[in-house]
Amino acid sequence: MSASGVDLVEEILALKKARNAVILAHNYQIKEIQEVADFVGDSLGLSIQAAGTQADVIAFCGVHFMSETAKILNPTKTVILPDLDAGCSLSDSCPAEELEAYLAAHANKNYYVIAYINCSAGVKALSDVICTSGNAVRMVQHAPTDRNLLFVPDQNLGQWVIEQTGRPMELWKGNCYVHVEFTRQSIQRIREEHPGAPVVAHPECTTAVRMLADEVCSTERMIGYCKNHPANAFVIVTESGMLHRLRREMPDKTFIPGPTEACACADCRFMKRNTLEKLRDALHSLSPAIELPEALRARAELPMRRMLEWSA
Ligand code: 13P
Ligand code: SF4
Repeated sequence: MSASGVDLVEEILALKKARNAVILAHNYQIKEIQEVADFVGDSLGLSIQAAGTQADVIAFCGVHFMSETAKILNPTKTVILPDLDAGCSLSDSCPAEELEAYLAAHANKNYYVIAYINCSAGVKALSDVICTSGNAVRMVQHAPTDRNLLFVPDQNLGQWVIEQTGRPMELWKGNCYVHVEFTRQSIQRIREEHPGAPVVAHPECTTAVRMLADEVCSTERMIGYCKNHPANAFVIVTESGMLHRLRREMPDKTFIPGPTEACACADCRFMKRNTLEKLRDALHSLSPAIELPEALRARAELPMRRMLEWSA
C-alpha cells in the first residue's frame, strides 16, 4: 500500500477507536476495505455480528439494505454507510408498495412471506421471516406447512431453494443484475479451460449456470468448501470481491473468476462505491447515518429476529 494509503488506514483505525466503532465488511467489498475491517463475511455472518456488537457505532461497508438491517437490529446505535448510493438492483426489484398491493390483491392466498435479506426495511416489515443465501433452505424448512409460500425478491435463489427443499413456493420476479450476467456459455468455456477446477456458484445465478456448478452456496460457505476440497484451483462464480477473501484465507490455492460474456469477472457497481476515503469521512462525520421510522423498524425487526432464532 502507498504511504498515503497507510496514512488513511491509520486515520481510520484512530477514528474507529475514538468513536468506539466496529467496521463490518461484506465479502464483495474492495480488498483495502476487507483488510481494515473487524469482520468480513456474508449477509448472515454480518447480521449476527451486527446483532451482537457492543460498539456504539457500526460502520457498515456493504450496500444500503445491509446497513439498514444493522439499524433494524440496533435502533439506539449509530449505523453509517460510507456511500449512501450503494444500492442493490435486487432490492430495487421489489418495492414495498408493490409487495403490499400484491398481498392485498391476493389476500385469499394467506401467504407466508419469506424475504431474502436483500430487500428494503419496508419489504421486511411485510414479511414473516427473513433469510440469507446461507440459511434460506433452513428458513423454508421451518415455514408452516399449511400456508402458501411467497418468496421475494430473488427468483433464482427461490428456485434453488425449491429444488433443495421440494417445497413449492411462488417467486417474485426479481434478480441480481451481477449474477444473471454469468451465462451457460461463459461458464462452460471457463470449465473447459480449467478441467480440474471445481466450479463454485452463488445461488443468485440462473438455473442454467447453477447446473454447471459442482457446488452452489453462499459466499461464506465458499470458504469452507474450498478449504476442505483437495483441489488446488477453483472457478468462483460470484462477484469479484469474493476472490480477495478466498486468496487471503487460502494463499496457496488458485481462484479463477467466473467470466461473463463481456468481462473476465463480474463487479457489483453498488458494492464498489465504498472506498477507504469515504469510510474515513463517514467515521469522522458519523454520516451518512441510517435512520428509520420506529414503527417500521419495529415491524421489520420481528422477521429478522425470527431468522436469527432459527439460525442459532
Ligand atoms: P451472501 O453474502 O449472503 O452470499 O449474499 C450475496 C449477495 O449478493 C449480497 O449482496
Ligand atoms: Fe445487490 Fe447483486 Fe450487488 Fe449483491 S451483488 S448488492 S444482490 S446488485
